[in-house]
Amino acid sequence: MIRTPPAMRALHPGDAVAVAMAARASLCADVIVGLSQARKSIPCKYLYDAAGAALFEGICQTPEYYPTRTELALLRKHAGDIAACAGGGVNLIEFGSGSSAKARILLDALPRASSYTPIDIALPGLLAEADALRSDYPALRVVPICADFTETVALPESIAGERRVGFFPGSTIGNFTPGEAGAFLRRAATMLGNDSLLIVGVDLRKDQRLLDAAYNDAAGITAAFNLNLLRRLNRELRANFDLAAFSHGAHYNAAQARVEMHIYSLAFQTVRVDGRLFSFTSGESIHTENSHKYSVTEFQALAGANGFRPLHCWTDAANLFSLHCLVTTAIH
Ligand code: AVJ
Repeated sequence: MIRTPPAMRALHPGDAVAVAMAARASLCADVIVGLSQARKSIPCKYLYDAAGAALFEGICQTPEYYPTRTELALLRKHAGDIAACAGGGVNLIEFGSGSSAKARILLDALPRASSYTPIDIALPGLLAEADALRSDYPALRVVPICADFTETVALPESIAGERRVGFFPGSTIGNFTPGEAGAFLRRAATMLGNDSLLIVGVDLRKDQRLLDAAYNDAAGITAAFNLNLLRRLNRELRANFDLAAFSHGAHYNAAQARVEMHIYSLAFQTVRVDGRLFSFTSGESIHTENSHKYSVTEFQALAGANGFRPLHCWTDAANLFSLHCLVTTAIH
């Protein structure tokens, strides 16, 4: 397990080197374990190296991938409602902040927000974005934390006092299985404390054809995003995946209410990863991501069983995406 230090300390160059070494070690260990299983899989967080993050931004621009633009519209439309729920001074805490573009929509509607704590594993982006936020919101205390939000993160003491509002957009929660999502919600409730809000974006169940299209865009950007994982392993783990011998596949699994993304081997082949050999039969896959879909009531039930009471839920007219406003309950 890596524990990356808070950003304040990670500003030292020596820490940045230690963080990079720990990150490589965990990538290596997770990939070896994942490829050694009968059903091969690699944790989806590894899709997001610099190239993967850029490709994901490209996915968000495709006509088929509706979640990003739908959630942005919901945030713009309901930022005032969210501010009304939050009340006066607010500490905004974002799980997996990326570019913080969505948080800016909330910050613009929360002029009296006292602090913003973005939590992200990608240190360079986190520090650059923190600087940009400090100059764009001079009255805001920006307290970045470099950490994996799937683990418990200690919130800095400096943001105690005012109401905490957690923010987990993008339907990233759908990458967890429902059991893991419940565990995440419980951890978030404990971290945030009593009477805190959590604003969470959740992709809705819908016609399978829309889902299949959203994860198989015609321009092939999702395919490039998925296969970029092999490029990353070739570079960072001295692997020798032949990218032409694998292909992208994504499909809706109705029984599990999730889109699954896989990398399929097009032939029998053996691949070396960090000095170890792994064989693939023709058609065998590496499962690279799950993206679970929930109805509004299913998600509210999950939240209700894991430390939160549902306060509001906003959806778009076409019922593509939901934005939930939850409040922590007293029992954690
Ligand atoms: C950013 C994880 C929510 O699951 O829809 C998009 C990632 N993968 N296309 C999603 C993704 C393929 C996305 N999340």
